[in-house]
Amino acid sequence: MIFSSEAVPFSKTGGLGDVAGALPKALQETGEVDISLITPLYSQTKPGLLRELLFDNLYVEWLGSMRRTRVWYSEAGGAPAFLIDAPEYFARGEVYGFRDDHERFAFFSRAALTLLGRLGTPPDVVHLNDWPCGFASVWLRAGREWGGFLSRTRTLFSIHNLAYQGAFDPGDLWRLGFRQGDESNAFMQDGAAAALKAGLLACDAISTVSRRYSFEIQSPENGYGLDWLLRMRRDRLVGITNGVDYETWNPATDEHLAAHYDAEDLSGKRECKLDLLRRYGLPEELDRPVVASISRLVAQKGFDLIKQAGGAIIESGAFFVALGSGASEYENFLQEMHDAAPHRVGIYKGYNEPLSHQIEAGADIFLMPSLYEPCGLNQMYSMRYGTVPVVRATGGLDDTVENFDRERGTGNGFKFEPYTALAMVDKLHEALHWYAEPDVWRTIQLNGMRADNSWAAAARKYVEVYRAVAGM
Ligand code: ADP
Ligand code: GLC
Repeated sequence: MIFSSEAVPFSKTGGLGDVAGALPKALQETGEVDISLITPLYSQTKPGLLRELLFDNLYVEWLGSMRRTRVWYSEAGGAPAFLIDAPEYFARGEVYGFRDDHERFAFFSRAALTLLGRLGTPPDVVHLNDWPCGFASVWLRAGREWGGFLSRTRTLFSIHNLAYQGAFDPGDLWRLGFRQGDESNAFMQDGAAAALKAGLLACDAISTVSRRYSFEIQSPENGYGLDWLLRMRRDRLVGITNGVDYETWNPATDEHLAAHYDAEDLSGKRECKLDLLRRYGLPEELDRPVVASISRLVAQKGFDLIKQAGGAIIESGAFFVALGSGASEYENFLQEMHDAAPHRVGIYKGYNEPLSHQIEAGADIFLMPSLYEPCGLNQMYSMRYGTVPVVRATGGLDDTVENFDRERGTGNGFKFEPYTALAMVDKLHEALHWYAEPDVWRTIQLNGMRADNSWAAAARKYVEVYRAVAGM
């Protein structure tokens, strides 16, 4: 059983949504496990995806009384999914970003555990994801001590991003139903309560979304104050690199594209490039390279480097197109970059699913200079779309992108180590240099398009981990 605060096709703010959408399907396809998903029903969830109202009256013990909630059932994601319908918490337009987020997801955790009781058979393993599931981790551990219905259920906790810890006022712990003493103390982190920390202490095993990130988070530089905990539990920590859902991200079938193509015949990609230039109102200069970025606009994604190198990117002679929303500092900077060179720079501020596919297909180079990156999905989507990634060698970016080697003809992208604008621009120039040699460029594109980053291999690793966890 997977718990996740977001999951495609029901909801998505970033990569967690993609993963929690694709993994259950891939696990089911292994035929080895019986898997389903529990996730909140948000106002962004399309009603057409819901198959039936499963429970009209799931009573959840909450803040000292019993709260009635509804549960919907769906198979629209390919695997069975249960959606917790509590409009007072989840029908709010956005998925995160409210003052009571801790209460909202503590409720989600409580409701999901109550639902397990109602469904009847206790799962062997509950797979929890990120800080919103930290509460469930603690309650599952407590239930084990009491010998309750879920006392034989074990937990795997996946870290998708250690920097988001779900911090809140410790004064709320008691109100949310946590016992004073060890249980409440487990939340304490730098004077605040942190759902992630308590969840990581209480779970049976921990995974992260790439191998390199699993090591990085054990160091003080990347441990966000929890490196000691991860070192302490390192014998229970594993890195499994995310996969790509090739049903959704496939240039041969992608419904959002102006034309289709694959590794055998790339001609459709040129049409997609033309379509992209038109969408952004840029001149139809098909031989000029397009450098692209699709991202949450936060420091994690390396926008400080892009900000420093804005002039150099424009001077490189390439188009630059960006899709993103987030910090106003970066939104303003993108606006300035556009205003400085309106015929070279195209920006779209906001969230736009179809456009994210059109960029992957129409661009030549995908720029992802992350400060840190637990896994990263866009570099893998780019490769499938024949768009060559230029990335910083960190976390999952380092694990999935291999530097192009001219002598051997190997490699699927370009990566740099130091977190400096200079190193980034150097790599971008190297990529642009090879772009100007179409035969060489084709080799790099095909190396990426033929790479197998499907979920099948990752799902098999999760099955192994679930088996180990169930036996703990
Ligand atoms: P993260 O989860 O840290 O944001 P990932 O690379 O794992 O990074 O996943 C990001 C996902 O969110 C990708 O599917 C990407 O296409 C999508 N995404 C990010 N920003 C936007 C946006 N503004 N519009 C549409 N999709 C976006
Ligand atoms: C997080 C990370 C990203 C990862 C995604 C899915 O949001 O920032 O690197 O790909 O989760 O695991």
